[in-house]
Amino acid sequence: MNGNDKNVYYKNFIYDVLDLMFLIARNDPNIEKYTRFLTRNDEKLTIRPISPKDDDAVLELYYSLSQETIYFRFFQTKKNVPKSRVRKFTRIDYQKNFALVVENPQKKLIGIGRYIVDEHDEDAAEMSIVIRDDYQRRGIGSILIKYLISIAKEKGIKKIYATVLSDNYKILKTIDKLGFKFQRKLEDGDLRVESDISTLKEEEPLPFD
Ligand SMILES: CC(C)(COP(=O)(O)OP(=O)(O)OC[C@H]1O[C@@H](n2cnc3c(N)ncnc32)[C@H](O)[C@@H]1OP(=O)(O)O)[C@@H](O)C(=O)NCCC(=O)NCCS
Repeated sequence: MNGNDKNVYYKNFIYDVLDLMFLIARNDPNIEKYTRFLTRNDEKLTIRPISPKDDDAVLELYYSLSQETIYFRFFQTKKNVPKSRVRKFTRIDYQKNFALVVENPQKKLIGIGRYIVDEHDEDAAEMSIVIRDDYQRRGIGSILIKYLISIAKEKGIKKIYATVLSDNYKILKTIDKLGFKFQRKLEDGDLRVESDISTLKEEEPLPFD
């Protein structure tokens, strides 16, 4: 698929969300069943749901990020992060929300993307994403967003949105190239970008299968 395709999403990532939640809860090695590979520049990367085993890897990723990446993702400068906060981040209520990680063969996390259902509107979810600085501009962010949208749609979410800093040219360019229609709205100086995913049509296979 190229970035110009319109109204397309990908279905074949989550076969059975209930199965997946069960495996995650048990820390079952069969979680590999839900893993997908993506390759670019001859590097084999894995994309899979986040798990409680990722605490240390999440912290390592966070501390590796540049000030700009931290600022664009968290709207603040780099701070020490308590382990308790990381634990909350890696323990997801998959029935409602979702988080995916991309990792390299050395098990280093390359990026994280997640969505959290809006507490005032169960049809809508807020998405956020970060890619390790030296892996940006390799198409990984776009793939993560496509997967998240695919999973959200499978789970009945109709609207995906993100709040981004208005000078965050990286995410704005990324979503412009995705092929999904995102509306932009200025809210208290930040931008809310929003896409109606309920009208997307299913298409297989995934771009790197
Ligand atoms: C935004 C972000 C997730 C994009 O991830 P990524 O893996 O670098 O994005 P992609 O490689 O898929 O980029 C897709 C397209 O967007 C555009 N783009 C992305 N980053 C760009 C940059 N720094 N400069 C110019 N164009 C850029 C390009 O057109 C790119 O396609 P191309 O490389 O084929 O030309 C990443 O830059 C990031 O982690 N930023 C910091 C955190 C953040 O801003 N998160 C969003 C708010 S929650």
